Amino acid sequence: MTEQFTSNWDNVQSFEARADDVLIATYPKAGNTRVSYILDLLYFGETCPERGASLPLHHRVPFLELSRPNGPKGTDVADQLPTTPRLIKTHLPVQFIPKSFWERDIRMIYVARNAKDSVVSYFHFSRMNEAQPDPGDWNAFLHNFMEGNMVFGSWYDHVNGWWEKKQTYSNLHYMFYEDMIEDSGREAEGLCSFVGLTPSVQDKETILAEAKFDRMKLNKTVNFSTVKYMNQNVSPFMRKGTVGDWKNHFTVAQNETFDEDYKQKMKNPTLRFRTEV
Ligand code: A3P
Repeated sequence: MTEQFTSNWDNVQSFEARADDVLIATYPKAGNTRVSYILDLLYFGETCPERGASLPLHHRVPFLELSRPNGPKGTDVADQLPTTPRLIKTHLPVQFIPKSFWERDIRMIYVARNAKDSVVSYFHFSRMNEAQPDPGDWNAFLHNFMEGNMVFGSWYDHVNGWWEKKQTYSNLHYMFYEDMIEDSGREAEGLCSFVGLTPSVQDKETILAEAKFDRMKLNKTVNFSTVKYMNQNVSPFMRKGTVGDWKNHFTVAQNETFDEDYKQKMKNPTLRFRTEV
């Protein structure tokens, strides 16, 4: 972990969740922004459209553990949110989710993305985000990813930890980035039924159109272009938004080593990822 995610640790751990909160959890780069945006529009697009026009998404959906030196703390932003329910983003591995979330039986959405596209996306994100440790070259970054030497730890532990939690905690909706790409309507349906929303066909269509990659890329409230420590000239936050970009990065040898190592780490046959759709 880096200091920006640990310096407010005690307040994160003692954070008081509210019964109607919705937590959106992901390993970095699994598509948290997209699902957060869809939920924000589903809940508040109708009642307060002005939110979408002006307020950056990271103010509407606070990042729980974020605590940068001169920025507001995620816990404070969450506490001050005027809207109900509160949508809250986290990248924490499941074992670090504050106790109150479990005690209050909070609804949680976990989005997982296949390891190969995750590491590629994380590499480019680390290049453009000055708050991230220097990623080094691609080969070094890939090696560190396999070793779990990443901010927020091992991808393998993260996706497995949350998957195992789903077996005992029924208020957890586990989704896949690849499924969203394949059929966003079907996935939005699942999301709505999980949180108990029934948007009209028209509203759902409008929201899904808004949350398409090309639209989000141009939307200043969701593309992070207002965040100073992200250099979008190095690599845009809304970079490609596809499944399978890993093929443009992995060499044949890297792919073989990765697959071999993956088999050793991902032993649970019920958790399956797709690296193409
Ligand atoms: P790429 O770097 O592969 O393009 P997060 O929001 O969790 O940080 O994830 C960011 C990743 O999700 C980036 O992946 C980004 O482009 C992608 N993404 C964001 N919005 C998207 C959308 N509407 N459709 C598809 N991918 C999207």
